[in-house]
Amino acid sequence: MKNFQSLPKPTMKTTIIFLLVLTLFGVLDPTHFAQAIGQDGQEQPIKRIVVLVLENRSFDHMIGWMKKYINPSINGVTGRECNPFSTNLTQKHSQGSAQEAICFTDDAKYVDPDPGHSFEDVEKQVFGSNHVPSMDGFVEQALSVSQNLSETVMKGFRPENVPIYAKLVQEFAVFDRWFSSIPGPTQPNRLFVYSATSHGSTSHITRQLAKGYPQKTIFDSLHENGKDFGVYYQNIPTTLFYRNMRKLKYVFKFHQYSTFKQHAKDGKLPNLSVIEPRYFDIKGFPANDDHPSHDVANGQKLVKEVYETLRASPQWNESLLVITYDEHGGFFDHVKTPYVNVPSPDGNTGPAPSFFKFDRLGVRVPTIMVSPWIKKGTVISSPKGPTPTSEYEHSSIPATIKKIFNLPSNFLTHRDAWAGTFEHVVGQLSSPRSDCPEVLPEAAPLRRTEPDETRPLSEFQGEVVQLAAVLNGDHFLSSFPDEMGKKMSVKEAHTYVQGAVSRFITASKEAINLGADESAIVDMRSSLTTRSVIHNK
Ligand SMILES: *[C@@H]1O[C@H](CO)[C@@H](O)[C@H](O)[C@H]1NC(C)=O
Ligand SMILES: *[C@@H]1O[C@H](CO)[C@@H](O)[C@H](O)[C@H]1NC(C)=O
Ligand SMILES: *[C@@H]1O[C@H](CO)[C@@H](O)[C@H](O)[C@H]1NC(C)=O
Ligand SMILES: *[C@@H]1O[C@H](CO)[C@@H](O)[C@H](O)[C@H]1NC(C)=O
Ligand SMILES: *[C@@H]1O[C@H](CO)[C@@H](O)[C@H](O)[C@H]1NC(C)=O
Repeated sequence: MKNFQSLPKPTMKTTIIFLLVLTLFGVLDPTHFAQAIGQDGQEQPIKRIVVLVLENRSFDHMIGWMKKYINPSINGVTGRECNPFSTNLTQKHSQGSAQEAICFTDDAKYVDPDPGHSFEDVEKQVFGSNHVPSMDGFVEQALSVSQNLSETVMKGFRPENVPIYAKLVQEFAVFDRWFSSIPGPTQPNRLFVYSATSHGSTSHITRQLAKGYPQKTIFDSLHENGKDFGVYYQNIPTTLFYRNMRKLKYVFKFHQYSTFKQHAKDGKLPNLSVIEPRYFDIKGFPANDDHPSHDVANGQKLVKEVYETLRASPQWNESLLVITYDEHGGFFDHVKTPYVNVPSPDGNTGPAPSFFKFDRLGVRVPTIMVSPWIKKGTVISSPKGPTPTSEYEHSSIPATIKKIFNLPSNFLTHRDAWAGTFEHVVGQLSSPRSDCPEVLPEAAPLRRTEPDETRPLSEFQGEVVQLAAVLNGDHFLSSFPDEMGKKMSVKEAHTYVQGAVSRFITASKEAINLGADESAIVDMRSSLTTRSVIHNK
């Protein structure tokens, strides 16, 4: 399964023999043939896909050491991956100093604070002082923040500290060449997961957030073809950053996370389920999105719970679970980011000073897939197409959903048309495995302290509060957008956000009862005024 792209091109003769064998094989065992090849979605074993996107960790940071300890065919680390203190050759020579560098180690622990991952930070990490990606600027970029951080970014977890992933990588599939869609922060990368574009954003743009992003999403493609989806959220569904998702027709698609467990138990999971982690770190309910400073042990627990829930479901044999990370969070990864022939999704360019053309990918992130149709110990690297330069990135998710569910809708952008699809990950077996573990190991906490609810908000949490303010109608207040989040502690923000979401969903359901058009969006007025208004489009 590994490195389809790097295999030598078969000669004409071997191609003919290969086709002949396949044909004979098909004649002898038509069921197996159809399922293994997955002809255009017919005989496709998967009827349900569950997607879980966690936050801000690179592949090497989470999975890199599994090459040494679990499976040598994974493109991970050996410890010989190093970054110099400075990538500036002139400076190095003039100082005449020996090459000072930090090499990758396996002692990653609980991380606080957060390494840099803005567009500009990532550019320094990936390019150093070179003109092509060299992956040697991580230490230098981190040093510009603090000495400690430069060591932090060069550490990966030993498998025993991420025991859930260690088990899933042994049992199912790991993708060791899956990149974030843009070399920038969370929000634009998350937007790519369901819409194959960030509509020109390379960072978080408040004005755009307030309006909601206008692009079509894979949820729309599913809906217009009679396929169902559900978003199971814990604090707030960040899928509401897409404007279409706020429409009345989708309000019944949003469920509390506890409903995921119920739907799975009752065999009622929709064709696409999106699980949103907890983004706020609250006593008794610690954040489980893996975003620093949150403890990855809680992310591990969430993955364990989602796995075990699905494993126990009557729908298990028709399910595929996709776990990935929005972006690398500033942590080192050694695989050069692709920068040739990456298509711009929609022709939008980023803001000054970079005017990014969306023509290269972000840093490699961990991606794990789980299904009883996946062979134990699978490692997948480059995709087989659809173009010679195609790669796996977040747009591979909508591209594969389109393929698996045979959706006649157009691709969302040029990017999902280009991204590799992964339906073959479930195309290797002729029947579902019955030996998949029912229970995964426990993950011991790495953080010694309780959640600090009085902490100020991280940038991402601030963005989530702004979304809540829009839903709640408070964005018209003069304090919006910056002041509001700045004054709140994590605990206050958590309370505010939950209230806003619940108010928005209740008002949307009332609007439906009042006969409002399904493409309308409820526009709440701040609680300073009393009435809500319904806007068409
Ligand atoms: C979508 O889900 C429905 C309901 O579970 C199921 O009957 C159907 O086969 C699924 N569709 C596809 C294309 O898998
Ligand atoms: C590299 O270092 C030299 C000497 O300190 C300095 O003049 C130059 O501006 C630096 N170049 C970059 C790209 O930072
Ligand atoms: C850096 O690490 C040292 C030693 O562990 C610690 O005392 C110090 O507070 C850390 N500094 C920062 C900025 O985290
Ligand atoms: C991680 O995700 C958050 C959420 O977007 C984002 O704001 C942040 O810039 C990303 N990186 C870090 C280290 O926070
Ligand atoms: C899934 O398939 C396996 C193997 O055919 C079978 O043993 C098991 O009972 C099935 N599980 C469910 C939930 O249908």
